[in-house]
Amino acid sequence: MEKFYLTTAIDYVNGAPHIGHAYEKIISDIIVRHFDRRGRDVYFLTGTDEHGVKIQKTAAAAGITPQELCDQNAQKFKDTWALLDIKYDKFGRTTDPVHKKKVQEIFRKLLDKGDIYKHSYEGLYCSGCECFLAEKDLTEDGLCPVHNKAPEHVSEENYFFRLSKYAGRIKEYVKTAVKPEWRVAEVMNFMEDLQDISVSRSTKNVQWGIPVPNDPEQTIYVWIDALSNYYTQVSPEALGSAAPSFTLWPATVHVIGKDILKFHAVYWIGILLAMEEALPESIFAHGWITIDAAKMSKTTGNVIAPADILKSFNLTEPDVLRYYMASAAHAGKDGNYSDDDFKEKVNAHLANGMGNLLNRTLNMTEKYFNGKVGENRDSALLAAANETVSKVNGHFDKFEVAEAAHEIMALVDMTNKYVTDNAPWTLAKDGDMEKCEEVLSTVLKVMETVSYLIAPFCPNIAARMANQLTMGAKIEPVFLRLDSELADKSAKR
Ligand code: ME8
Ligand code: MG
Repeated sequence: MEKFYLTTAIDYVNGAPHIGHAYEKIISDIIVRHFDRRGRDVYFLTGTDEHGVKIQKTAAAAGITPQELCDQNAQKFKDTWALLDIKYDKFGRTTDPVHKKKVQEIFRKLLDKGDIYKHSYEGLYCSGCECFLAEKDLTEDGLCPVHNKAPEHVSEENYFFRLSKYAGRIKEYVKTAVKPEWRVAEVMNFMEDLQDISVSRSTKNVQWGIPVPNDPEQTIYVWIDALSNYYTQVSPEALGSAAPSFTLWPATVHVIGKDILKFHAVYWIGILLAMEEALPESIFAHGWITIDAAKMSKTTGNVIAPADILKSFNLTEPDVLRYYMASAAHAGKDGNYSDDDFKEKVNAHLANGMGNLLNRTLNMTEKYFNGKVGENRDSALLAAANETVSKVNGHFDKFEVAEAAHEIMALVDMTNKYVTDNAPWTLAKDGDMEKCEEVLSTVLKVMETVSYLIAPFCPNIAARMANQLTMGAKIEPVFLRLDSELADKSAKR
């Protein structure tokens, strides 16, 4: 069997999870569940990114240790993923002892082969961005454009990674591995005149991090620490007896947001080349989720926690939110969350489109045929259902989760039209039981395909659909409409 090892970005633990983090984990979980059903040996890694100055400062402000802050917030991420039925195999934290040890090993290996070197330099440093800015990046008044603050003049001796050495091979990689393909150009642009990157900070400025081996004055800077998590967490040492029977590295796909594509497609690939390790098959950059068309921000106060959405709509399982988020954006493009749109789409696509179709068909089958129909079926609609399976597979091959959902809904629409056109209730009234049976049998068969295809999106609902279709479970609505009163309340959240 072919392996399928997916990683998500590891979230910063200086805050609680929001719907943007959830979007990434939901699409990743759907992709993994899809490939699992297609017979791949799947492994799903997520986790948290726990080092750096921001964590250090947030913890200090809260009067707790950085580790306490990390423990509290990592737990919030885990709790949220449990609520959303995110079925990861491992939750890897960058404060895990094995990770820290292996990052130091990587650092030492690169140092020994001369790909990491010590270099002293001067520059304009923005403590908000935690990075050096070039003159050309500053505003007319010489301020950091993001923080509106004058950068400090800093001279420091740091370790640098010889990224420029690998530029040619990284470019070759980027051309085929970065998805969606239309993102390749921006990464290539970024790679023009590629410079070496600093991979450590003075311990004076950054204490909360992994120490550089044999140099107490330097802390390994966040990106080399964070990116390595994909690799260290699936090492035999880290997995121990929980290791699967198949080899995990290299990853099949890194699923990440568009804002961190260059770190993955350029820095990480450079580091792996220096490590002489195999490269991930692909890097998929998704777009950003806005709330009511506005960027989420703590200052605006429009940050939404997934748990609050479930609560305000009185949802005891995450299926409809998973479906909605997964279809919110075309592959790689930005998407939006709004309470009204959520309610509308769930009611239209799931409750009315899919749920009613199943319910009506099962009820008619019960009423006219005591719940049992033959196997004489409409070949055209069955062929359309099979074609939907191929199209959905094709979309998943390109990580096009929303596009796959649209295909499934198109099949549901087609099936609803088939029912309306053939009006099995009229056929029954007119006594054409043979044709009536054919129509119902066809729809039931198509609904089996629909429940199979929708399962990665809506695992609980799909299981109930399958039970009613094949196990003769009691007929009940598998989707409930989102109550408008509840939704109105949520608007005041
Ligand atoms: O970037 N919509 O952590 P992070 C969609 N620790 N995705 C969003 C989003 C939004 N509004 N906001 C954030 C980091 N994300 C690093 C990653 S990986 C080795 C290190 C996505 O908590 C974002 O694009 O800021 C990223 O993929 C993930 O959430 C974590 O973001
Ligand atoms: Mg971020």
